[in-house]
Amino acid sequence: MRITVIGCGYLGAVHAACMAKLGHEVVGIDVDERKVSALSAASAPFFEPGLDALLKEVQETGRLSFSTDMASAKGSSVHFICVGTPQKKGENGADLTYVDAATRDLLPYLSPGDLIVGKSTVPVGTAARLAGIIEQTQPAVHTMWNPEFLREGHAVSDTLHPDRLVYGIAGGSEEHIAVQVLDRVYATPLETGTPRLVTDLPTAELVKTAANSFLATKISFINAMAELCDAAGADVTMLADAIGLDDRIGRKFLNAGIGFGGGCLPKDIRAFMARAGELGADQALTFLREVDAINMRRRTRVVELARELCGGSLLGQRITVLGAAFKPESDDVRDSPALSIAAQLQLQGAVVTVTDPKALHNAARRFPELHYEESTEVALQRADALLLLTEWQEYRDLDPYEASAFVSSSKILDGRNILDASKWRAAGWTYRGLGRP
Ligand code: UGA
Repeated sequence: MRITVIGCGYLGAVHAACMAKLGHEVVGIDVDERKVSALSAASAPFFEPGLDALLKEVQETGRLSFSTDMASAKGSSVHFICVGTPQKKGENGADLTYVDAATRDLLPYLSPGDLIVGKSTVPVGTAARLAGIIEQTQPAVHTMWNPEFLREGHAVSDTLHPDRLVYGIAGGSEEHIAVQVLDRVYATPLETGTPRLVTDLPTAELVKTAANSFLATKISFINAMAELCDAAGADVTMLADAIGLDDRIGRKFLNAGIGFGGGCLPKDIRAFMARAGELGADQALTFLREVDAINMRRRTRVVELARELCGGSLLGQRITVLGAAFKPESDDVRDSPALSIAAQLQLQGAVVTVTDPKALHNAARRFPELHYEESTEVALQRADALLLLTEWQEYRDLDPYEASAFVSSSKILDGRNILDASKWRAAGWTYRGLGRP
């Protein structure tokens, strides 16, 4: 099939490459020339494991191309909308400017029978509104909403082997011709047994925001337990292991630490609350305000613990922050708790050095006032305290004996609770975790 993917950010670039891998002829369209030329040269404009290799592989088949010209959508039968829906400036709601513009700009290039498939995370009601606009100019074009659940760092495998496919279509009928068209797009994952759920449009939109809200709630729940464990002298990691063995609860997403960040969870829960308010159902989501508050409190807590670790004052203390990305295997620093903590420490008088295997370039653009160092070894030198804030494998593997040779004071705050506390203490370190005795 010939497929258009509009918006070549995280979601769109990965989706375009994966659709070509599934055998389709794909054109990725983006207004950003820099992105388009990087992707055309098989180089992703962000770090995602396996994506450059996949881009190269599919581009060699001739099935994948990129363009800034919306007219390249002409001739495709399926058009995926994958543009961003960031948080509005100064408000909780989602900014739909890009989704609206992509839909509007696409309209002149559609033919009867074409299918528009939204993948962007949107407030419930957006799909029906867009379907109305599309119908006015292109009555024979179908609209579906097909939310995406990929995780950064696992984006390629999540797209090629999704847990489930959700198809939203007005009326929610499995018999609709558009459902058959989307089945052809996803023929390969469907053949391997991927569950497919056909829903109406609002349910499909809600599935996505509900899933992200649940994940955020799980993380904030365990972080609330970490606060209690700190107060009671208990161990949140053991607690998570124990409750996680109940398969109704599950151990995944119960890692207490500095909290969630990134381009999705924080903005999605806020947009969800804003939308619920517009719908007159704000009470249903007041708990998400608490989820957000618990999450933001983690950052202040870490700054306070760092101050304690440094003997009561951060002034002039040389602090090395290990990790800038919002999570490992990513160079994404959007709403990264690690970077926000680093910036707070600096504001409060510490001399902060940040290191990260992939995210330094993005971090320096966001917080140019911080000092960045590529080499972990150099970053450790003469540190008065280390803060491990993103759990890259390299930091998990740090040897406490070797590390103590570089630092000026053997103190470490493990913001992700991933180090073996007894091993670090045995090597002479003052070790602090979060919610661990
Ligand atoms: C999230 C969802 O997991 C995806 O399913 C969804 O498709 C995506 O948002 C999206 O909406 O596009 P992602 O933002 O890549 O994916 O990151 P996650 O793996 O969910 O991690 C989010 C944050 O939670 C990270 O900062 C991570 O460090 C933190 N986290 C995660 C914890 O603090 N504890 C945990 O136990 C798990």
